[in-house]
Amino acid sequence: MNIVMLGAPGAGKGTVAKKLQEEYKIPHISTGDIFRENIKNGTELGLKAKSFMDKGELVPDEITINMLLDRIEKDDAKEGFILDGFPRTINQAEALKIKLNEKNTKVEYAILLDTKDEDIIKRLSGRRVCENCGKPYHIETLKPKTDGICDDCNNKLIQRKDDTIEVIKDRLNVYHKQTQPLVDYYQNEKVLHTIDGFQSLDAEIIEIKKILNK
Ligand code: AP5
Ligand code: MG
Repeated sequence: MNIVMLGAPGAGKGTVAKKLQEEYKIPHISTGDIFRENIKNGTELGLKAKSFMDKGELVPDEITINMLLDRIEKDDAKEGFILDGFPRTINQAEALKIKLNEKNTKVEYAILLDTKDEDIIKRLSGRRVCENCGKPYHIETLKPKTDGICDDCNNKLIQRKDDTIEVIKDRLNVYHKQTQPLVDYYQNEKVLHTIDGFQSLDAEIIEIKKILNK
């Protein structure tokens, strides 16, 4: 089962994808998480990505596409994957389509978490993420069991560097210009499903399970 999560920054892509990963035992693959891991480890890839991410700009396609296409070749993605934050440009979507075509498969579900920009800014300023596994929490709406500690791996929760109001606004602009065209793209592919990204997480998962029919 190949799923793409679509939505603005803060729409809840990572939150939903982590739940679906538990449910369906297919990997949650977030290009943002992969970049952040590389930045933390001081790799060359991380160094290249950091300047773009800090400004809320997209990391260039020539870096991002190869990284993602390599990742979906791994064994754990044989039965499918949940992509979060990729594709983000038509160019990336086309590269993914070609790669999947070669394997006689395709993106089967593109799930758009629909949100309004004014709600996003408030939401993202309350986000905390696990410094180890990247799992997102919220200081009001999705709290961890113990304050400041990840439920899954017991590591510390931190605020993301790009969650400042200025950078959130830039990320939203980039989303509308470069990523939103993918909504029409996947509509044309007849795989688009839109759900409200500001309902409870449980309600979102119930709706998505109905879409996936599993
Ligand atoms: P990335 O890490 O993908 O960030 P993003 O798209 O800006 O999305 P976010 O992770 O901010 O939001 P989300 O939708 O995952 O929301 P979350 O689940 O955390 O990318 C970061 C950067 O990397 C980019 O700016 C770019 O530079 C680079 N990059 C990445 N991929 C790239 C690509 N393909 N090409 C080029 N560059 C790329 O939820 C948000 C908050 O809401 C959390 O606090 C959560 O707890 C809360 N929440 C979520 N759902 C609910 C709910 N139902 N009820 C209550 N609270 C909720
Ligand atoms: Mg995310």
